Amino acid sequence: MRSKKNHAPAFDVPPAMDAAEAAKIAYDQDVSRSKHHFVPGEHPVVRIEHLNKTFTDTPVLRDVNLNVWNGEIVVVLGPSGSGKSTMLRCINLLETPTAGHILIDDEEITGASKTNVNELRKNLGMVFQGFNLFPHMTALENVMVGQVKVLKKSKEEARVEAMKQLEAVGMADRADFKPPQLSGGQQQRVAIARAVAMHPKVLLFDEPTSALDPELVRDVLAVMRDLALNGDMTMIVVTHEMGFARDVADRVVFMEGGVVVEQGLPDEVFDHPQQERTKEFLGSIR
Ligand SMILES: Nc1ncnc2c1ncn2[C@@H]1O[C@H](COP(=O)(O)OP(=O)(O)O)[C@@H](O)[C@H]1O
Ligand SMILES: [Mg+2]
Repeated sequence: MRSKKNHAPAFDVPPAMDAAEAAKIAYDQDVSRSKHHFVPGEHPVVRIEHLNKTFTDTPVLRDVNLNVWNGEIVVVLGPSGSGKSTMLRCINLLETPTAGHILIDDEEITGASKTNVNELRKNLGMVFQGFNLFPHMTALENVMVGQVKVLKKSKEEARVEAMKQLEAVGMADRADFKPPQLSGGQQQRVAIARAVAMHPKVLLFDEPTSALDPELVRDVLAVMRDLALNGDMTMIVVTHEMGFARDVADRVVFMEGGVVVEQGLPDEVFDHPQQERTKEFLGSIR
């Protein structure tokens, strides 16, 4: 039997690039394939270089490279098992990459020490398929708790911000309800308010509408659309909602088998996919 200890890594990735050089390369790559309005000299807010993740012996992410810009809305598409959640979970420090680099505002977050992780996580908000609200807390308390515990805000300050964000997602009149008293769509809107109330640099959505009954999907998408179009939030959204992707995304990224197969302007990817695998995927879901 092969010993794990002697098992040489299957990949050997270079160190993270110099920030200015990386920004220039990223700009050259993305300027024609994103609707993002570039500012001269801008650096990407998220920089993913040669990201690899292997579970036991199964490679799940294989050399993913992706840059996301401040205020950009990136929609990630791909079949089940393609590594979309794993990529988001690596960005959010819920998984440890096997190799490669993730940088937020040019600061490497991969390999961060435990004490640093909580500090770095302030930069990242996440909305999960299953809402993940605290069931014993009211909607208001759910939106307050991170502000108080993590951002060390006073309760009063947190309450004001929480009410503002609940208002924005149309849930102010349900502030005193607990999750079991709310529909899935309402819970997800509270979860979005909770994430936004932390004012992270980047908001990650992992199939936020996939667990919802069809009639509730629309309300959640409307909230996300509003956030994307009227805020300055940077969003990475994994979703199967093609209408949302086409209308709202600045850029669409198609993943399969742990690699980014293709990415570009939504209309380009949907109407003129370059790769056979993208065509097949889009054909299968239409
Ligand atoms: N904790 C884990 N342990 C082992 N395998 C995992 C784990 N998490 C995900 N995987 C595997 O990694 C692959 C990609 O999963 P995932 O990132 O959830 O894909 P997606 O979100 O695109 O459906 C799948 O084959 C899945 O079974
Ligand atoms: Mg997933």
